[in-house]
Amino acid sequence: MREVKVSREIVEEQLRIAEEYREKSPKGRKFFMECYGCQQNEADSERMSGICELMGYEKTDDKTEASLIIINTCAIREHAELKALSNTGQLKRLKEKDPSLLIGICGCMAQEKHRRDQLKKSYPYVDFLLGTDMIHMLPSVVERAAYGKKRVWAVNDLPHNELGVIAEGLPVKRESKVSGWVSVMYGCNNFCSYCIVPYVRGRERSRNEEDVIREFRELLSSGVKDITLLGQNVNSYRSENGVDFPTLLEHITALEGDFRVRFMTSHPKDCTKRLAETFKNEKMANHFHLPFQSGSSRILELMNRRYDKEKYLEKAMMLKETIPNVALTTDIIIGFPTETEKDFLDTVDVVKKVGFDMSYIFLYSPRVGTRAAVMDDQIPHEVKVERFKYLSNIQNEIARANNERLVGTVQRVLVDGVENGIYTGRSGQNKIVNFSGEGISVGDFCNVEVTEAQAYSILGKKIN
Ligand code: SAH
Ligand code: SF4
Ligand code: F3S
Repeated sequence: MREVKVSREIVEEQLRIAEEYREKSPKGRKFFMECYGCQQNEADSERMSGICELMGYEKTDDKTEASLIIINTCAIREHAELKALSNTGQLKRLKEKDPSLLIGICGCMAQEKHRRDQLKKSYPYVDFLLGTDMIHMLPSVVERAAYGKKRVWAVNDLPHNELGVIAEGLPVKRESKVSGWVSVMYGCNNFCSYCIVPYVRGRERSRNEEDVIREFRELLSSGVKDITLLGQNVNSYRSENGVDFPTLLEHITALEGDFRVRFMTSHPKDCTKRLAETFKNEKMANHFHLPFQSGSSRILELMNRRYDKEKYLEKAMMLKETIPNVALTTDIIIGFPTETEKDFLDTVDVVKKVGFDMSYIFLYSPRVGTRAAVMDDQIPHEVKVERFKYLSNIQNEIARANNERLVGTVQRVLVDGVENGIYTGRSGQNKIVNFSGEGISVGDFCNVEVTEAQAYSILGKKIN
């Protein structure tokens, strides 16, 4: 087994290479970063942006003026991969115009063998590939791609029993001054039969509590007030010295300051009463995202989710009873192999019984190497789309009804923007709130009385 933690010496050497690169390379160069996928990938992009700046590149949103382009890819569904590939294809023209342009592909798609082969063969203008476990190696990879005149393929194959790494001490360029995230664990051990994540992100591993708390404090002192703890199975967090996820939350909410904590994503198997009780602390935002994927116990078994319909409903009800005014959101997969009309109606039933504030509904997409991809009885696309539309309509009505019940209440909103005199922000329930008022600045918490409801946003006015 490899060492999980990347040694300090390796990280420091990479940071030294970054600085040397900055000194020896022409000034005024820019980098462009494109990111697909989940917040974990966004967090990785922020680290890579931090490294690019250290290497002397300035961030640009215009790829035509960039001398380094990085595409951080996602492999969760075919659509995400095809989009990244098509955008990569469009870079060919830029490379022809400027052969010194460096193009790199990283993220989860770079972890897949068949995609790597495809990139190597059909995309000769891609200069480097960087695996999800190699982010800390970006300086030497870019350096070799720029000066070595050779393509650099820096990817670890992650066989099932391998761990993946944790690299501390990398620079970060954060996108928002109001909200931010801290990865607390990486990888996944669950092997849901449809999912590519365990293959591309390696085994579960948790950061030390001190490292998490240090980063959390840094965010607080930079003025960030809404912080999401991240992990593919965030509530499976367990530090080497035995700190579990509820304890981590207790320690974090005990920190000084006016801030809000969230976390993403939870697996129902680790969704306990003790976790729900941490929400007694007012710094915990009253929102809980708990994917259920399917309401059919038969499909859940095929998915290897380790709970059935009843167990999920029990957990959802426990959350509602324990956390006052909790907003529940979820992920759902439509059209898993063998899904019948009856299975689908069980999914509809769970949506109605729980009354989610939002459901992210996905059409099942077969992923190379996963068990479900080779199951018999794949569902035709048209059937998936039909079920998707039916369920979306129901979910939209529920979301609207939930928001209508908020009219007249007061919500504490963290302001994240303003346009034409209308402020926008997020409530504890993570709802988008548009409101009017005086003496408001981005980054403030405001009390807002809700005056009107829409399915996925609410309107209001600031009160004192
Ligand atoms: N670790 C998180 C999220 C994983 S990916 C969790 O376990 O909840 C986010 C969502 O993508 C999943 O919850 C699932 O609903 C969806 N998803 C994963 N694989 C998929 C596939 N092959 N096809 C369609 N949707 C998928
Ligand atoms: Fe994928 Fe399941 Fe792991 Fe979530 S818990 S990342 S859906 S394998
Ligand atoms: Fe996509 Fe990788 Fe996240 S596959 S959803 S970017 S972990």
